[in-house]
Amino acid sequence: MPSHHRIALLPGDGIGVEVTAEARKVVDALGLDLEWTELDWGSDHWHRTGSMMPPDWEGVLRAHDACLMGACGRPDVPDHVSLWGLVLEIRQTLDLWANVRPARLLPGIPCPLAGRGPEHVDMLFVRENTEGEYAGVGGRAHRGHPEEVGIETSVFTRHGVERVVRHAFELAEGRRGLLTSATKSNASRYGYVLWDEVCEAVAAEHPDVRYERVLVDALAARMVRSPESLDVVVASNLFADILTDLAAALQGGMGMAASANLAPGTDVPGLFEPVHGSAPDIAGQGIANPCGAVWSAALMLDHLGEKEAAARLVRALEDVCRDGPRTRDVGGEAGTIEVGDALAARVVAG
Ligand code: NAI
Ligand code: MG
Repeated sequence: MPSHHRIALLPGDGIGVEVTAEARKVVDALGLDLEWTELDWGSDHWHRTGSMMPPDWEGVLRAHDACLMGACGRPDVPDHVSLWGLVLEIRQTLDLWANVRPARLLPGIPCPLAGRGPEHVDMLFVRENTEGEYAGVGGRAHRGHPEEVGIETSVFTRHGVERVVRHAFELAEGRRGLLTSATKSNASRYGYVLWDEVCEAVAAEHPDVRYERVLVDALAARMVRSPESLDVVVASNLFADILTDLAAALQGGMGMAASANLAPGTDVPGLFEPVHGSAPDIAGQGIANPCGAVWSAALMLDHLGEKEAAARLVRALEDVCRDGPRTRDVGGEAGTIEVGDALAARVVAG
């Protein structure tokens, strides 16, 4: 019996709407038993009601097996409002503590690094997703006065660090067996020192994985100079946010990068989304690259246990990236829908 899956589709704003339409089309071409619920949350919802999501949003998401999202944010809504009112709220409330982001350069996609190709870029980032610098702790005082202050406090907990580091070690066991931890325990004396201590302890439980810790600034340089020396990278919320945009560039740009927000070991629905935002600069032009959204859908199917379907999606991505059509951000001339159609056709062809 094929399993039935309830999928919440949250297109959001801008190109989020365009790329999720293609992702849904490509997933539907697999012929699985899926039930989609489309959610109209995002900036229009905010203008209409004063909030990005309805008050019962948590129950709505928990009634599904997974959520596939585009991106939220628009110039007519302050970014901290759209981000904290939707994706950060979802990650924190559902405690989706692991953000897993594959950064693999597919054949056919141009790499910005001279002399490097797909054999050099195959990394997996595991981002701590609920605390660190984005814990939301802080405040503002003396607003509007010259002595105004803004304080943003980083929060690192042993529990929060340990669970994400352990998950990263487990993922490294299934790959090339190298785990690199991004740290900054020279300049930051508290949070990242705790981070390092937890990594050491978890490393001792995984003697089969080679563990190293690298200062985040040096790690950024190493990603450019020798990306092939990296396998799984575990990093805090802020560090991985920045490093994964760099990683996205190495794999051909923001349009290629996919992510999964997960609470491993629980039945909380995961949130799957391309790494890019709503790209107001190209929204409505039909030129956004849908590959990151389609790849995110593949991560979703894999997580739902549809391993064969997920593998078919990834094969279709590999074929279309190699043979075209491709969007212009990755060297082609095609539009969003043309690439989506080609991916769907490949999926049908097997
Ligand atoms: P962005 O990722 O939307 O765009 C950065 C650059 O990459 C732009 O030049 C854009 O045209 C290009 N780009 C992004 N995705 C692309 C695609 N699929 N195909 C081709 N080109 C692509 O980041 P930006 O401009 O910093 O943010 C725009 C809005 O998105 C903001 O409101 C921001 O807060 C929001 N945002 C939302 C996220 C989410 O909902 N998870 C994540 C990141 C940003
Ligand atoms: Mg980011």
